[in-house]
Parts: sequence; structure tokens; C-alpha cells
Amino acid sequence: MIAPSILSADFAHLADEADAVKGADWLHVDVMDAHFVPNLTLGLPIVESLLKATTIPLDCHLMIENPDRWAPPYAEAGAYNVTFHAEATDNPVAVARDIRAAGAKAGLSIKPNTPLDPYLEILREFDTLLVMSVEPGFGGQKFMPQVLDKARRVRNLVDSGELTLLVEIDGGINMDTVEAAAEAGVDCFVAGSAVYGADDPSAAVEKLRSRARH
Ligand code: DX5
Ligand code: ZN
Repeated sequence: MIAPSILSADFAHLADEADAVKGADWLHVDVMDAHFVPNLTLGLPIVESLLKATTIPLDCHLMIENPDRWAPPYAEAGAYNVTFHAEATDNPVAVARDIRAAGAKAGLSIKPNTPLDPYLEILREFDTLLVMSVEPGFGGQKFMPQVLDKARRVRNLVDSGELTLLVEIDGGINMDTVEAAAEAGVDCFVAGSAVYGADDPSAAVEKLRSRARH
């Protein structure tokens, strides 16, 4: 699966930018609050507008503090997948249950230096594990291959039937890095600059998809 990140799109024309990647599986929406990460992007009102403007399922990546309070409304609004950060809450299971009760898939994201082990026990409460392959906050950063070990470990647990979960990766995914991520067992590839920085974003989605299948 390919999930273009609208962080690299033109925020004044989000409906057109969603149209530009029609073949995408999910549209990745980076919500940043200038507290959990040192950047500010968009929030619920824009997600609500985007939901009316596209049929592509929205994959909301919440890089925000207090997801306990702010994550469930994205699910209630109609986002397909709502991912929050493990580092931002003491109650990840409660947040996941609230998201699911509101009708969305629940995702857990971990930053590059956050170990997987403390969260293995709770992953059955989630539909998605989003492995960050850059420090969250900005597009266009360099891929950190060392995070692939975490993807590989979760892939093995899924393949052995211990977990049912999509493994997603976010940060620095492009034509040079997507293959290594695919080999590590990633299911869903977020790509911002590699898609929206391309002359033809929709062709870039297809190229990434075929490269990932190699
Ligand atoms: C970074 C965001 C990413 C970002 C990826 O904090 O979570 O989704 O858009 O951008 P690229 O693909 O350019 O690294
Ligand atoms: Zn993201």
C-alpha cells in the first residue's frame, strides 16, 4: 500500500492534491501541534473538509500531545485510520479502544529511538504500527535504515499468526529506500516529498508500488 503524505502538498489546494494521487491506497495526513513536534500543520477542521473532498481513506498521523483527548474526534469525523504516538500518552490501550469505538482503525506510532519491546504486549489492541524512519516533524529528511529491525520483528509476529496488524513506515521513503523497507516486511509506505515533489504524483505512486513489489 502507498500512502502519499499531504505534508508535501500545496495546503491551499488540498482537494486538487488529493485528486492528483487517485491511485493511492490511503492519504496520509500529518497533524502536528507545535508541542509534541516543533512544527504546526493542520487539525480537525481541515480533516473534516478533506473528508468531504476525497474518497481516498484518510490515514491521520497525530503528532500531538494528549491524544487521549484529541485522537477520538478524528475517528468520529470519519478518518479511516487514526495513529497516535506511544511517547505522547500513558494510556495507549485506552486511546486505541476509544478510536476503535468511534469507528476507525487504531494505529500506534513509535519514533526512531523508541524501542518496540515495551509495546509488544499491547499491539493486539491496534490495527497499524507506524514505524517512524525519521524524527517526526518535517518532510524531506533522510531515511534511517536502523528502524527496519522493528518492522522486521513485527512482520515475523504477524506472519506467525501472533498479531494481526499492518506495518507502516513513514519518513524518507523514495525510489531508493522503498525496496529495503519492503524486504523488511512493511505493508504500507508513506511518502511525502517522493510523491508530491515529483512532476507526476500519480505516476510516482505507481512507481513506488512496483518498486516495493520487487
Ligand atoms: C514527518 C511526517 C511524514 C512526512 C514524510 O514527521 O510524519 O509523514 O510527510 O515526508 P517524506 O516522505 O518527505 O520524508
Ligand atoms: Zn506522517
